Amino acid sequence: MSNNVPRVLFHETIQCLVAALEARDPYTRNHSKRVADLTLDLGCRAGLQVLDLELIHLAALVHDIGKIGVPDQILRKPGPLLPREWELFRQHPEIGQNILGRSLHLEKVAELVLHHHERWDGNGYPEGLKGERIPIGSRIIALADGVDAMTSARAYRPPLSWLQCKREIYIAPDFPGHEIRINLGRLGDGRGGRALVGDKEARGGSAAFAG
Ligand SMILES: [Fe+2]
Repeated sequence: MSNNVPRVLFHETIQCLVAALEARDPYTRNHSKRVADLTLDLGCRAGLQVLDLELIHLAALVHDIGKIGVPDQILRKPGPLLPREWELFRQHPEIGQNILGRSLHLEKVAELVLHHHERWDGNGYPEGLKGERIPIGSRIIALADGVDAMTSARAYRPPLSWLQCKREIYIAPDFPGHEIRINLGRLGDGRGGRALVGDKEARGGSAAFAG
């Protein structure tokens, strides 16, 4: 972000983009905010600096903005996607980067969005980056995104419980961001664990945006 542009303008611009995506895809309603809250929480726990936290919070809010460019029949398909449909769906991080990249001031946000589906083992997309080559902000967003997806209801399954969600993350060493969870060592304790899945009461003041 640039110091020459009022910060409030960044935040307002991001909110406009979130509103555009939510108008397009009802599923993302509140999802973006929940992921952004979790991202902030994890980023705080990981000891990131305030400016980095601000950046990844903005990126988390618009991580799926590229879905605007994915056809409705794919975005809203209740059943599994066909290979060709997956191919189109998997373009959304790049579409998001292209949208955000129109603003030089949002360049770093665009980069975090581009990599939010990379995987620790290199089997993610779009670039197949591996391990620490994936920007830490993207890894944190991926973890928060995964947790929110698992703990939300789907047409084909009820929401996973906290314990089921935790197990999923533990048994998947390639889960994006899992090393953040390991480093934080918080997933097993009540307060941190519940905060991780968005329990506001458990979160208390500990995850407050510092600054
Ligand atoms: Fe995504």
